[in-house]
Amino acid sequence: MVIYFQYMAKGRAKSKPSPKASRRVATSGDIEVSTYLEIAKEIGGVQPAAAKEAIPSGEREAIIVIDFGSQYSLLIARRVRECQVYCELVSADTPWEKIAPLNPKGFILSGGPGSVYETNAPMAPSYIYESRLPILGICYGMQVITHQMGGRVAPGTKREYGHALLHLGGVDSPLFANVPQSTAVWMSHGDKIEAMPPDFNVLAYTDNSPFAAIGNDKNIFGLQFHPEVVHTPEGKTILKNFVYRICGCQGNWTMGNFITDSLTKIQKEVGKGKVISALSGGVDSAVVSTLIHKAIGDQITCIFVNHGMLRREEVERTFNTFRLNMGMNIVYVDASERFLSRLKGVTDPETKRKIIGEEFINVFEEEAKKIGKVDFLAQGTLYPDVIESASSGSTAAAKIKSHHNVGGLPSKMTLKLLEPLRYLFKDEVRQVGLELGLPEEMVWRQPFPGPGLAIRIIGEVTEEKLEILRAADWVVMNEIKKAKLYRQLWQSFAILTDVHSVGVMGDYRTYGYLVAVRAVTSDDAMTADWARLPYDVLARISNRIVNEVPEVNRVVYDITSKPPSTIEWE
Ligand code: XMP
Repeated sequence: MVIYFQYMAKGRAKSKPSPKASRRVATSGDIEVSTYLEIAKEIGGVQPAAAKEAIPSGEREAIIVIDFGSQYSLLIARRVRECQVYCELVSADTPWEKIAPLNPKGFILSGGPGSVYETNAPMAPSYIYESRLPILGICYGMQVITHQMGGRVAPGTKREYGHALLHLGGVDSPLFANVPQSTAVWMSHGDKIEAMPPDFNVLAYTDNSPFAAIGNDKNIFGLQFHPEVVHTPEGKTILKNFVYRICGCQGNWTMGNFITDSLTKIQKEVGKGKVISALSGGVDSAVVSTLIHKAIGDQITCIFVNHGMLRREEVERTFNTFRLNMGMNIVYVDASERFLSRLKGVTDPETKRKIIGEEFINVFEEEAKKIGKVDFLAQGTLYPDVIESASSGSTAAAKIKSHHNVGGLPSKMTLKLLEPLRYLFKDEVRQVGLELGLPEEMVWRQPFPGPGLAIRIIGEVTEEKLEILRAADWVVMNEIKKAKLYRQLWQSFAILTDVHSVGVMGDYRTYGYLVAVRAVTSDDAMTADWARLPYDVLARISNRIVNEVPEVNRVVYDITSKPPSTIEWE
């Protein structure tokens, strides 16, 4: 997310768009809802529970990634966790006292934009060498090891970026067990190793990098390439070798273990207290509420605010899943009219966001008060949000607050935060959801923005336009699901533009709405590509919309990527 905001800042400097352009939020799913609540509570300064809480307590083990600022650092942590080993990202100045309770079995030093010669170039803390635990340096991390252990790093004469062919050679190492003799790897570096530190051996080389992989007999390794990216097909094998063969991990990081452990922890933390959560239908709030409900039953009450900007059947489906199937305590508030009347005459996208944010808090607080004494607020904060707010030095709430212009919110609620997912990645949250018995439809839901359809209706939001958009969006969703494309797409939806155009139906001329269809692929919403949907799927979508939604007589497909466009139209 950090990168996304940086990009916005750069974009503004170049093209000087209106200040409004800066207020987009790269959040997905329902994070926005929880962030509104965070703002309302003014929780600034409340620190997360100790990280060790996340690891199943049986046989605690972790791999620690020292983050030197690479865009791939989080990806390394994800890859290690995919090997069923708990992994956390920490900055290079993290003291040993914070790391020791995690019971580290090894360290990975990430890549980074720096150069080891620069003044103030970040270095690895001395405890990683003193601990005598295995170390794997990746790219800049490898250069740090080389520099700190007495080798020589030189500025590369040419930057090596892209695919390279790695050949195993020199000394055999368990790091490359089950890796073919020659394999493709992804390079992205300027500086390179000129001389290895004493007692290191070459393990593999490429045409341009004689020291593409090095290691010593103390289990310290360096890789010039990136094993964590998909362009290094054997990368996962290499990381798996590191964590199992070299660090001796057991592999106890499974979502089943996580759930068992979390249930006990939640019971202990909450005691006889009461918890509230905001359900939005998004996967994070769904999983967090279900997990807590499993732990403490009716001590949790979920508040589901219908702001009227939801899609067709969304309210019923969410309500049925939680109330009827899981037997959860839900307060459902239909506040649609209240939101709609506040949005009357409003056309500016950021004003819409601001009004929805404020009103959401008002409704939530009113309902929370009716419940009586409450002790905890459950939030679906995930690990990337934790990392982002830690590295940016500000809370996610502060960022969204400024980006959304949400100001002057009440700060009467004095609740403790309950965030059992704060060390999980999104794919792990989905896994937890499935293991808790949530329907696939909910667990695999595409992200939906907090302000909902309000930012997919260009111009003023009215009940009539909402109904038109719901009908058109229903067709898009239905056809995309029928074509089995739903999960491959980051988002797919309809936009109701404020353009009218002339058409002909039977003997009549029509003057109807123009609906745009947007479908994108993306990994994280920072960048996105328009999806190359098959023509016949597009044809069915278009035919059905004009046939089933009488107010619409023209459908267009948005074929712009992000950047320069954004995913949403407002
Ligand atoms: P853009 O349109 O900026 O969207 O490319 C990036 C991602 O963020 C979502 N989005 C929002 N989510 N509140 C949210 O909770 C918002 O105001 C908002 N605006 C955009 C968007 O759906 C996409 O996933």
